[in-house]
Amino acid sequence: MAKMWDARFSKAENSRVNDFNSSISFDSRMFREDIEGSMAHAAMLGKCGIISLDESAKIVTALAEIKADLEAGKLAIDPEAEDIHMFVEEVLTARIGDTGKRLHTARSRNDQVALDIRLYLKKEITEIRSLVKGLLDAIVTIAEENTDTVMAGYTHLQRAQPVTFAHYVLAYAQMFIRDDLRLADVYDRTNISPLGSGALASTTYPIDRHMVAELLGMSGVTENSMDGVSDRDFLIELVFALSLIMMHLSRFSEEVILWCTSEFSFVELDDAFSTGSSIMPQKKNPDIAELVRGKTGRVYGDLTTVLTMMKGIPLAYNKDMQEDKEAAFDAIDNAKLCIELFTSMIATMTVKKEKLRQAASGGFINATDCADYLVKKGLPFRDAYRVSGRLVAYCIENKTDLESLTLDTYKTFSPLFDEGVYEAVNLENCVNERKVYGGPSKESVLHQIKLVKNYIEK
Ligand code: ARG
Repeated sequence: MAKMWDARFSKAENSRVNDFNSSISFDSRMFREDIEGSMAHAAMLGKCGIISLDESAKIVTALAEIKADLEAGKLAIDPEAEDIHMFVEEVLTARIGDTGKRLHTARSRNDQVALDIRLYLKKEITEIRSLVKGLLDAIVTIAEENTDTVMAGYTHLQRAQPVTFAHYVLAYAQMFIRDDLRLADVYDRTNISPLGSGALASTTYPIDRHMVAELLGMSGVTENSMDGVSDRDFLIELVFALSLIMMHLSRFSEEVILWCTSEFSFVELDDAFSTGSSIMPQKKNPDIAELVRGKTGRVYGDLTTVLTMMKGIPLAYNKDMQEDKEAAFDAIDNAKLCIELFTSMIATMTVKKEKLRQAASGGFINATDCADYLVKKGLPFRDAYRVSGRLVAYCIENKTDLESLTLDTYKTFSPLFDEGVYEAVNLENCVNERKVYGGPSKESVLHQIKLVKNYIEK
């Protein structure tokens, strides 16, 4: 097929070169953004007197029709086209003739593609942020139902100190709030128009870059034409933000997978979000959580792709940069799927409160509280720590726990013990005495819930 740019060539392009070079198979998903960008550009060209107002209006109308036809499926994307930018321009010229050929005045595909990808990512960021808010909402609901669900908190995957299930899941809420803030930040850096940068050195036409930005709802224009066409930081930042979201989802998934085992048995997934085995009839597998964990590696791979793609290329545009889209789209598609499914999975899972409470009792997670009790009675912490440690050793040897020891036994370890020790080692008290800001007490957790809810609503 003849190319728009083939005037200086004496031979047709090798057919494999056409396929190798083409990006239409993946960049056609930006057709709306490409057309909206072109409509703004055409309007600006008319307003600035670079083309006539009549021509400008004709182009804008035809572009709107092309967009509507593509959306309605009345116009099919030509898989032979080089990319979405060429395709739209070819259709435009086929429909309105010579006037269509005026659209590309004062513009290059380099600033055009830089604009299109920014417009496209803006939409995706907005969608992803609303999915993250949905996830936060599911977490808050679980938290509200579990402010009294005492469980062991872990370090080194060993039972450590008592918390509540609400406090536990609210830790993840904080991660996803940071993720959302990061997305908001990336959005601001994405929402800037590079159009007018031209191929790399802008243009001699008296264009109005700010007008285009304004028409497209962008907050400003890029400051340097060479940077304008060759910057993909915003895209890399987005893939990084998605990688962190995936990391958080993956950690949470790992916990859900553990919690579903008969050994932990802290939660049960809804049948609709579990899968069976083809051979073992008893199995109920947490495949969704495992896939989320697995896809995390894939999104990290996309991040490595875009970082590596950019690391050695000179200014300004290089064709390497066409590789940005498949990686970014893959990261976006997979992260969105994961957030959505993970949200539904946790929203429908059953929290086994008694199991959590049971597991909290057996692990001496109140040993620190026992030591603190002696400290309040005047013993230095290091000495109190030793007494409490010897008590734990005694309990292990005698297969009992700190809650069940008699006062006489306590007194053989330290004369400072009195009836009050039972209050001190009661797990519910251990949690609720941790009233420090950010701690697991009910009071503190209710405050956390309020803050997360405020965040979601804002
Ligand atoms: N398809 C190209 C891309 O995605 C568009 C820009 C091409 N510019 C060029 N001079 N070849 O990056």
